[in-house]
Amino acid sequence: MITTLEKVLFLKEVSLFRNISSERLAKIATITKEIEFSKGERIINEGDEGDSLFIIVEGFVNILKGRETIAKLGPKDFFGEMAILDSEPRSASVVADSETICLKISREDFTEILIDEHEIMLAIIKSLVQRLRQSNTKSENKD
Ligand code: CMP
Repeated sequence: MITTLEKVLFLKEVSLFRNISSERLAKIATITKEIEFSKGERIINEGDEGDSLFIIVEGFVNILKGRETIAKLGPKDFFGEMAILDSEPRSASVVADSETICLKISREDFTEILIDEHEIMLAIIKSLVQRLRQSNTKSENKD
C-alpha cells in the first residue's frame, strides 16, 4: 500500500506534474487510487468506454492495436488520457507485461485538475505530440 507521502514523492518525478507545487500534488495524491495488475491482465480494452487515466508506478504495459504491439510504457508513463479528453472509445488495448502497479484518476477528477493546472494540460499536449511523432516515424519506416 502506497502512502500519500510516497504518492507525492512519486508524482514529483512524473513529467506530467513537473511544475506543480508540493501542496497541489498532495491534493492530487489523495484523489489517486492504487491499483495492481498481474502479468497478462488486460487493463484497457480497445473500443470500450473510458473514464480513467493511469500512471504507472511499477512495471510495464504493452499498447496494442488489434494484435500488434504499437508501444511499450513503463514507470512514470501514463495512459488512458485519450478517451478522457475526447470522450471517444478507447483507441487501443493496454495489457500488463509484468506485475504492474498504477495510480488511477477518474475523468471527473482529472478534468478538474486540468482546469486548475494549465501546466498539466501543456504536458498532456506535449506527450500526445510525441506519441504522434513516434507513430509517424513508425509508419514512414514501414513504407
Ligand atoms: P485511450 O484511448 O484512452 O486508451 C488506450 C490508451 O493507449 C490511449 O488512451 C493512450 O494512452 C495509449 N496509446 C494509444 N496509442 C498510443 C501510442 N501510439 N503510443 C503510446 N500510447 C498510446
